[in-house]
Amino acid sequence: MLILFVLIHLIKCQTDNIIYVHLIPHSHDDYGWLYTIDEYYSNRIIQFGQEYGNVRDILNSVYSEIQKNNERKYIQVEIGFLNMWWKNQNEEVRNKYKEMVQSGKIEIINGGWTMHDEATTYFEDIIDQMTVGHQWVKENLGVVPEIGWQIDPFGHQQTNAALFSQMGFNAQWFARVDYQDFDYRKQNKRLEMVWHPKEYEEDAYIFSAINYQHYSPPRNFFFERDQQVTQSNVHQKAIEFVNYFQQMRQSFQTNHLIHTMGEDFTFSHSEVWFDSIDLLIEYINKRSDEFGMVIQYSTPSQYLKEINKQQKKWPVNNHDFYPYADTQSAYWTGYFTSRPSLKGLTKESGRYLQAIRNIFSFEHISRRTQHFESYSDKIQQSLQYFEEQMAALMHHDAVSGTEKQHVVNDYIYRICDGYSKIRDYLNPLLREYTLQDISESDVNYQQCNWNVTASQCNITFSQINAKKPVLVNIYNPSVTRVINIRIKVPDANITVINQKNEFLQADLICSHPKNQKNCDLYFKDKFEGYSFQYYKIIFQDSKYQQKIQPMDIKSSQEQVVIELSKLSTLKVDLKKPSFLYQVWEAEEQSGLEAQKLKEYSFSLQYNFYYSSQNSGQSSGAYIFRPDNDQTHTYSEIKNITIYRGQLVTIVVLQGEHTTTQLRFYFNNFDKIVEVETFIDPINISDGKGKEIVMIVNTNLKNKKTFYTDSNGLSLQKRILNFRPTWDLKVHEQVSGNYYPIGSMIQIQDEDKKEQISVVNDRSQGGTSLKEGQLELMIHRRILRDDNRGVGESLNETDNETTFTSEFTQKYTKTTILQGFITLMITKRLTLKYLQISKLWKNLLLLLTKVSKIGIKNK
Ligand SMILES: *[C@@H]1O[C@H](CO)[C@@H](O)[C@H](O)[C@H]1NC(C)=O
Ligand SMILES: *[C@@H]1O[C@H](CO)[C@@H](O)[C@H](O)[C@H]1NC(C)=O
Ligand SMILES: *[C@@H]1O[C@H](CO)[C@@H](O)[C@H](O)[C@H]1NC(C)=O
Ligand SMILES: *[C@@H]1O[C@H](CO)[C@@H](O)[C@H](O)[C@H]1NC(C)=O
Ligand SMILES: *[C@@H]1O[C@H](CO)[C@@H](O)[C@H](O)[C@H]1NC(C)=O
Ligand SMILES: *[C@@H]1O[C@H](CO)[C@@H](O)[C@H](O)[C@H]1NC(C)=O
Ligand SMILES: *[C@@H]1O[C@H](CO)[C@@H](O)[C@H](O)[C@H]1NC(C)=O
Repeated sequence: MLILFVLIHLIKCQTDNIIYVHLIPHSHDDYGWLYTIDEYYSNRIIQFGQEYGNVRDILNSVYSEIQKNNERKYIQVEIGFLNMWWKNQNEEVRNKYKEMVQSGKIEIINGGWTMHDEATTYFEDIIDQMTVGHQWVKENLGVVPEIGWQIDPFGHQQTNAALFSQMGFNAQWFARVDYQDFDYRKQNKRLEMVWHPKEYEEDAYIFSAINYQHYSPPRNFFFERDQQVTQSNVHQKAIEFVNYFQQMRQSFQTNHLIHTMGEDFTFSHSEVWFDSIDLLIEYINKRSDEFGMVIQYSTPSQYLKEINKQQKKWPVNNHDFYPYADTQSAYWTGYFTSRPSLKGLTKESGRYLQAIRNIFSFEHISRRTQHFESYSDKIQQSLQYFEEQMAALMHHDAVSGTEKQHVVNDYIYRICDGYSKIRDYLNPLLREYTLQDISESDVNYQQCNWNVTASQCNITFSQINAKKPVLVNIYNPSVTRVINIRIKVPDANITVINQKNEFLQADLICSHPKNQKNCDLYFKDKFEGYSFQYYKIIFQDSKYQQKIQPMDIKSSQEQVVIELSKLSTLKVDLKKPSFLYQVWEAEEQSGLEAQKLKEYSFSLQYNFYYSSQNSGQSSGAYIFRPDNDQTHTYSEIKNITIYRGQLVTIVVLQGEHTTTQLRFYFNNFDKIVEVETFIDPINISDGKGKEIVMIVNTNLKNKKTFYTDSNGLSLQKRILNFRPTWDLKVHEQVSGNYYPIGSMIQIQDEDKKEQISVVNDRSQGGTSLKEGQLELMIHRRILRDDNRGVGESLNETDNETTFTSEFTQKYTKTTILQGFITLMITKRLTLKYLQISKLWKNLLLLLTKVSKIGIKNK
C-alpha cells in the first residue's frame, strides 16, 4: 500500500511539472481603421507596405481549413464582419459553421458587433453594441459568448469590467497596459487577476488576464511571414517553441499557459498556420516527457476550465488601466480628444437612439397608430440598421478618432444614413399622435436636433419669417423633470404658448457676435416622464417677448452684478474675466439653522500646448505629447457682452479664436453654469501642431487629487503622478496625468466641503495639474503622425457642422467645433452613478408648420 501511494504521488508530481500550452488561433480584424469596413471585407489590403488578407478571405480560409483536422480550433471575435460573410453563405455552409460553433471547434469570443473602445464610449452605447452582436450570435448560432476579448483597446475601464461581469462573461483578456505596470506584473506573476471594481455590486468581478506577448504569436512563429514548420526543421522549431514557453512559465501562476497565434488580419492563408501548428503539436507531444510540455489547440474557455481546476487564489485588482503608455514618452492620452466632432456626433446619436427606441417600445404596447401597424417590420429593420451603425462607431478605431480621414467620413455617412432612415419612419408616427392629441390638420414634422444656427433649420426659419406659427413637440425620454428649452429661431416678435394656450415666460436672445439674426428662444417647463408635450411658437405684435438687449457696459466698468434669485447674486469681473457667486445658504450652527453668505468663484482660460514634432515621439492621433509642459494663451478674451433675460443670463466671451457662451439660469439649481465654446479652425501657418485646452480656475484646495468618470458612471480617484497599483516613474508630467473624461471631471476641497464638477457633452481628455484647476483638452490639430499605424496626421480643418440627414453625397466635413459643458459648483456630495449627461441633452425636439395659433386639445 505504501509503495503504491508513493508511486501515485510521484506520477502526480511529474504531470504537475509538465507545462500545458493552449494555442489560440485568431485574427484581429479591425472594423474600420486604415480602410473602411467594406474595404477591409473584400478589397486588396496593403498596410505598412505589406499585403494583408481581407476579412472575406480570412473567414473562407478558416472555414475550409479548420475542418481538415479534428483538433484544430479558432476564435471569431467581430460579429459585424461575421454577419457580412454569413449573408453570402448557403444553408449548408451556415449549418456546418453553426455545428462547429456548438461543438466548441470555433468559439465566439467577445461577440460584440465590434471590439469597442473603452475610454471614449458611453456605457449605454457599450451595452447596445454588445447586445446587437450577442443577439446575432444567439439567433444565428444558438450560443451565448462567455469570454471578453478586448485585446487592442488602449486602456481599460472599471465600468467595462463591471459590465462584462454583469453580461455573464466568465473572464476577459486584454493586452495594452502601461509598460511599467506590465513589467511589474510580469515579474510578480500578476498578469492574471480577479478584477473587482469596488463601486459596483459585490458580485461584479471578473477574472482578467493580460496577454504575455501583445496579441501576437511567439517571435519567429508568425507563419504568414516567418518560416513555416516542415518535417525537416520541426526539431529545431520545436526546441525554440518549448524554450519560449518555459520562459513564459516564469511569469505565470499555473502550469497552463495561453497564447495567441495570429495578429491583425491574419489567417487568410490559414493553412500555413494550421499546418505548422499541427506539426509542432505532433512532434512536441510525442516527446512530452523529454520537453516537459504538452501543446494543444485551445480556446479561452477551455483554458479557463483548466486553471479553474487548480483552485488558485488570484491577486485582486480594484483599479482601471489608464493612462496607457507603451514607452516612456508615449502616453496614449491624445485619442481621448482626437476628432471632437465625431465624438460629439457619436454621443448625441446614442442618446437619440435611446429616445426613439423608447418611443417605439411604448408604441409596441399601446398600438395607437396605423403607421406602426402597417410598417412595424420596416421600423424594426431600420432601428436594427441604426443600431448596427451606432455599434460600428463604438469600434476602438472609430469613436477614438484614430482612423484615417476617409474612414471617418464613412462612419459619419453610416450614422447619418441610419439616422435618416429611422427618422423617416418616426415622423409619420408622431404625426398620427399629434392628430390624435390636438386638433391640427397639416402636420409634417422636421427634427432640427443638430442644427447650429437658426437658418439651418428651415422650418422655423421660413415659417417664422412668414409670420406663421410653428408647432413644437418635445419628447422627454426620461423621468419627470423641469427643463430649460432652447430653440434656434430668427429674430422676430415671437412668444411661446403651451397646451393650455397659456403664454410662457420666454427669453429671445440674439447673442451671436457675427449674426444678429441667429437667435435663441428660451423657455422653461415641467416635462412629464416618457411623454410628449406640445407648444407653439407664435408671431405676435402685442404680447411678444421683448428681445433682450445687451447690457450697457461702460469701458471703465470693472464689474457687473446680477441677481439670480432672492438668495443669490452673480458678479462678473470684466477685467479678468472671472465669475463670483454669492449665495445665502442655510447652515447649521450649534444646533440652530442660520443663513450664511457663501462665495464660489471661477474663471475660464483657453490655452494651448505645442505638439511635440521634432525628435523622438511626436504627438498624434493616439498620443498626446506636448513640446514642453507649459501652456500658452490661445484665445485672449477681447469683448464681453451680457444679456440679462428673465430666465437666463448669458455672458458672451469673444476671444481671438473662440466664442464662449456662459448661461446662468435663474431660480434653477443655483450654481450651475452652462458653457458652450466655439473654436475657429486652429491656425497652423507657423508649421506647428497645437492642442487646445480649456482651463477652469477655482479657489478650491484639491491637494493634487481629482475625480474622473468611467463611461458616464462611477467616479475614479486620481492623484497627480501616482498610480495605485505600482510605483510610478513619470517621464511626461502633463500627458502622464491625463485621463479619459466621458461625462465628468471633479475636484473637491476636503476642508471647505465643496466641490466643482465639469460635465461635458462628449468624451475628452482632462486633468488637474495645478491647485484648484480643471483642464479639459477641447481640440487638437497636429501635423505629424505618432507612428502607431494610422500614418496620417490629425489635421482637421473644418468648423462647419455636418450632422445632416440628407445624404445625396458623402460628407467630408467632420468637425463640429462646438463643445458644451456644464459647470456645477456644489456642496460636496458623492455621486456614485452619474448618468449626468442624460439629464441635460436628450430631448427630442420636433417642429412642424401649422397655420392656427392656439392648440386645441382632443
Ligand atoms: C438642420 O437639421 C435638419 C434636420 O436634422 C436637416 O435636415 C438639415 O439639413 C440641417 N441643416 C443644416 C444646414 O445642417
Ligand atoms: C425652406 O422652406 C421654404 C418654405 O417652405 C421652401 O420654399 C424652401 O425651398 C425651403 N428651403 C430649403 C433649403 O429646404
Ligand atoms: C417687433 O415689434 C415692434 C413693435 O411692436 C417693432 O418695432 C419691431 O420692428 C418688430 N420686430 C420685428 C423683428 O419684426
Ligand atoms: C463687443 O461686442 C458687442 C456685441 O457684439 C459690440 O456691440 C461691441 O462693439 C463690442 N465691443 C468692442 C470693444 O469690440
Ligand atoms: C468657420 O470658418 C469660416 C471660414 O473658414 C468662418 O468664416 C466662420 O466664421 C467660422 N465659423 C465659426 C462658427 O467659427
Ligand atoms: C494664421 O497665423 C498667421 C501668422 O500669425 C497669420 O498671418 C494668418 O492670417 C493666420 N490665418 C488665419 C486664417 O487666421
Ligand atoms: C493640413 O491641412 C491643410 C489644409 O487642408 C493642408 O494645407 C496641409 O498641407 C495639411 N498639413 C499636413 C501636414 O497634413
